[in-house]
Amino acid sequence: MITRNESETIRLGKKLGELLPKGSLVALKGDLAGGKTTFTKGIGQALGVKEVINSPTFTILKIYNGSLPLYHIDAYRLENNDYDLGISEYEEEGIMVIEWPEFYENYLPDEYLEVRFEYIDDDTRDISFVPHGDKYLEIAKEMTC
Ligand SMILES: Nc1ncnc2c1ncn2[C@@H]1O[C@H](COP(=O)(O)OP(=O)(O)OP(=O)(O)O)[C@@H](O)[C@H]1O
Ligand SMILES: [Mg+2]
Repeated sequence: MITRNESETIRLGKKLGELLPKGSLVALKGDLAGGKTTFTKGIGQALGVKEVINSPTFTILKIYNGSLPLYHIDAYRLENNDYDLGISEYEEEGIMVIEWPEFYENYLPDEYLEVRFEYIDDDTRDISFVPHGDKYLEIAKEMTC
């Protein structure tokens, strides 16, 4: 999917947030400034999160209150993939979103929805959906129509 500004990416995130059942895991992969945090804001909107979703430099996990808890992880600072956050304890309870899953891949479960962000130009992003495991097949299909 091509988005041409920040609001379109938020809207796409909101669409996904409305489709995700409790216990979902979404891995946001791709370019710096690709729109991962922006997309997460949309997921937050779908869950009715009132707090502003951002990416503080040194916070790895932030929990937002919504109709379900939103666990927002930015694994960028884990860097070398050798730290287990123990996310499986949280995963079942709400919606989990991980930015930079590359730095956490040793601990990712088999099933998750990957969302890829490609920076095309200042305003344009190419966002695609790659299901890992059957659980996310239908949702990934719905996101592209
Ligand atoms: N189509 C678009 N979708 C999303 N963001 C866009 C778009 N066009 C421009 N932008 C701008 O790009 C930036 C995206 O930043 P954002 O923090 O969401 O990226 P990120 O992938 O989370 O970055 P990081 O890798 O640093 O975590 C914002 O400043 C936003 O305004
Ligand atoms: Mg970010």
